[in-house]
Amino acid sequence: MIFDTHAHYDDEAFNEDREKLIDEISRSEIRKIVNVGANLVTSQNSVDLAERRDINNATVGVHPDDAAEVTDEGIERLRELAKGKKVVAVGEIGLDYYWNKENSDLQKMAFKRQIELARELSLPIIVHSRDAAADTMEILHETDAGKLGGVIHCFSYSPEIALESVKMGFYIGIGGVVTFKNAKKIKESVEAIPLEKIVLETDCPYLAPDPFRGKRNSSLYLGYVVKEIARLKGIDENTVMEQTFKNALNMYNIEA
Ligand code: NI
Repeated sequence: MIFDTHAHYDDEAFNEDREKLIDEISRSEIRKIVNVGANLVTSQNSVDLAERRDINNATVGVHPDDAAEVTDEGIERLRELAKGKKVVAVGEIGLDYYWNKENSDLQKMAFKRQIELARELSLPIIVHSRDAAADTMEILHETDAGKLGGVIHCFSYSPEIALESVKMGFYIGIGGVVTFKNAKKIKESVEAIPLEKIVLETDCPYLAPDPFRGKRNSSLYLGYVVKEIARLKGIDENTVMEQTFKNALNMYNIEA
């Protein structure tokens, strides 16, 4: 049993074969998928997809790239969407200084407002953080966000930051990047944190694992991520699948 905690099946990369692919995934060892919203439109799409497909749950949130959407109206829209029965988290939210650092004040405001929304709704958060470790940790600490729980998704920082995040109450999202030969920091982070704090994710259509690097990703490739985590931790693949499945159910407060 595998739980894909972070996917974007509403993405146009799946327009040709979305339903067929989800059928195929439903027949595989994948048992649950959380489709993650990244702005107001894709949050709506995620809720729609979850209502249509049993295997899917949804999250609603605005990614730092679209931070300008986080106005009073934007928050109200997310609050409405979060009423959907299958909505399990607020995300993905956070800071991304890789593409744009000039609007860091806007990104921080959007991040904090959505953490407050998650608190109001009693939902965990999915944190996106790229080239912004210090500011991300500062906001998570000052808002006491560890109490909400959730995940540092597509984790790309050092083992020290991984351990600090775990201590705060977060899970660490591990996906295709861990299979890349040059992903030294991520491999070290996987070794450093307990398996009880790791969840699996694709971020598909992005970040396909080796040997599919650069191709369209899907939950069907998560076996390669399982294999690498098992190798790094010196345990068997079944243990990785079972424990990360349990972790994901716990994190999102849902039943199998
Ligand atoms: Ni994502």
